[in-house]
Amino acid sequence: MKSLNKERLDKIISSQFNISRSEAKTCIRRGQVLVGGTVAKDSGMLVTPETEQIIFNGERLAYKKNIYIIMNKPRGVLSASTDKSRKTVVDILPEELKRSGLFPAGRLDRDTTGLLIITDDGDFAHRIISPKKKIKKTYIVWLDADITPDICRKFSEGVTLSDGTLCAPSKLTRIDKNVAEITITEGKYHQIKRMFGTVGIGVNELHRKSVGGLTLPENITEGLSRELTEMEKNSIFMPV
Ligand code: URA
Repeated sequence: MKSLNKERLDKIISSQFNISRSEAKTCIRRGQVLVGGTVAKDSGMLVTPETEQIIFNGERLAYKKNIYIIMNKPRGVLSASTDKSRKTVVDILPEELKRSGLFPAGRLDRDTTGLLIITDDGDFAHRIISPKKKIKKTYIVWLDADITPDICRKFSEGVTLSDGTLCAPSKLTRIDKNVAEITITEGKYHQIKRMFGTVGIGVNELHRKSVGGLTLPENITEGLSRELTEMEKNSIFMPV
């Protein structure tokens, strides 16, 4: 059986209620936190959050070590945790999903829409992002020119970007004259735009529809997000 770890109380309160560590300390000092029915005095007290009852401002803590969120990223929002002036994907999460340490598992460009995973679990994110894991990411792409069989062939062999970077083979399937589906297993900077750049084609729009075996559900419309179910989480790593 997995052993349960003890954690500092201020750390637990800060991560689970999306407040800073110093705010958590202040709340504990003011007697706003109860552990096992007794007012906690010490911010540094060690608690097992899975088994000990924690109440903060009268609200019972439903502890989750990590959180896994699916978002349909809207255009114009930055794939980052914070930014000085621009709105980020973490900024637009509903309050009940916000907590400290959240970050997007992989980046979509500011003008790209679609499936984005946001989590505070670094190992999970690594399994999605690392090119070594070869998790397929599928996008719909709208182009400023027609797609030819020759371009599909070039992409399937792996293209070399203008700076010499080699891309792994990808699958390009024509949907309409200038609309295609493309599946890649890496996440190089502006990868798809730069790949089409090698054949002199511009990308007008880009939308990510799936990551591994997980497809963006239709009812998660642009800007919406919710927690992933256990089954959805696992489906990311299923072979497709
Ligand atoms: N490739 C791009 O060029 N942009 C994205 O947002 C994702 C993949």
